[in-house]
Amino acid sequence: MSGNDAARESQRPSPELLRLGFVAFSWFASWGIGSVVISWIGTKQLHLSGRPFSWVQMSPQLPPLLLLLLGGAIADRVDPRRLLQSVHWAALAPVAVFAAMLDNGGTVFDTAPGYGASEEVAARAVNEAGLRDRVFWATKLNVAGRGSSADPARARAQVETSLSRLGRDRVDLIQVHNVADMATQFPILEEFKQAGRVRYIGTTTTFKPQYETLLTLMREEPFDFIGIDYAVDNLSAEEQVFRLAQEKGIGVLVYLPFGRTRLWDRVEGHAVPEWAAELGATTWAQFFLKFAASHPAVTAVTPATSKPHHMVDNMTAAKGRLPDQAERKRMIDFIAALPA
Ligand SMILES: NC(=O)c1ccc[n+]([C@@H]2O[C@H](COP(=O)([O-])OP(=O)(O)OC[C@H]3O[C@@H](n4cnc5c(N)ncnc54)[C@H](OP(=O)(O)O)[C@@H]3O)[C@@H](O)[C@H]2O)c1
Repeated sequence: MSGNDAARESQRPSPELLRLGFVAFSWFASWGIGSVVISWIGTKQLHLSGRPFSWVQMSPQLPPLLLLLLGGAIADRVDPRRLLQSVHWAALAPVAVFAAMLDNGGTVFDTAPGYGASEEVAARAVNEAGLRDRVFWATKLNVAGRGSSADPARARAQVETSLSRLGRDRVDLIQVHNVADMATQFPILEEFKQAGRVRYIGTTTTFKPQYETLLTLMREEPFDFIGIDYAVDNLSAEEQVFRLAQEKGIGVLVYLPFGRTRLWDRVEGHAVPEWAAELGATTWAQFFLKFAASHPAVTAVTPATSKPHHMVDNMTAAKGRLPDQAERKRMIDFIAALPA
């Protein structure tokens, strides 16, 4: 090929660009043809009057147009430097939350591929901050749809993705999410454990109707951990699940220690009782977390937060002492006496 041929070749649009152009052209062409055909049907076939018809045809375009104008007007009024700063702070938040956890003695982090971008964002944050080897990393496995079975190839691929996201040779804990298709998914976790790529394995649920299934599995399967909902106003796990976990030496991660928003709604407008300060609990978060952590079956409590100052508050619950039996009863009674 001569130099001129090569120059001509490099000026030719790439196939990808041509394909993109074709898609853009098709979109505009179909939109244009559609507008003309609809007008023709309306005015010539249905004999509608032209002006009201054009208003009707234009009306679907109005909301996006108004939103565009509104967005532009808002952006014009915001100081661009502050906008940029907010974007940077938002990007820093996951790192700041992890740093607050680790600086205050926390280690356990619980996520799942099923929580949107959580696993990916959290893994990127600990990797970029050089913190990944300081975290006990717990994630989950589930590729089964609701009530349907899991594809083993997809299940293995999901575990591989979790491992590669974190970038470590070994993840600390993987649990089958919500006891879903255990017959297919748990043996896959056993394979990964045998290969030394996962330290601990288990399963989770936060649905009471699944407790019976969980109990049966706990009797039959070699679980290292389970994850279950437990809070000062939600004690259902205590009676059977916690007892069996203690008997079999299975670790317990407590989920939903605040019941997401339930306990926050319950205590709104109420002060933390003064006697809780004897335990070192001066905020409601510390009250709830000290309660959950004080059950002897519990290995760790994993409250979720998106805010560094909440993380500091939550980690403060790990300081001082935990309530004894009588104090636990007092905590339960105090919350139960508040209006639901
Ligand atoms: N089946 C399962 O496997 C399953 C199901 C559900 C949950 N989980 C696990 O359970 C854990 C937590 O679950 P969750 O987020 O659903 O519920 P949660 O921990 O009970 O509640 C989280 C809520 O509490 C707020 N919060 C946290 N710390 C606070 C503080 N100090 N002061 C005031 N508000 C505070 C958070 O808001 P901010 O962001 O504003 O702090 C968030 O709205 C996670 O590890 C999750 O993986 C597992």
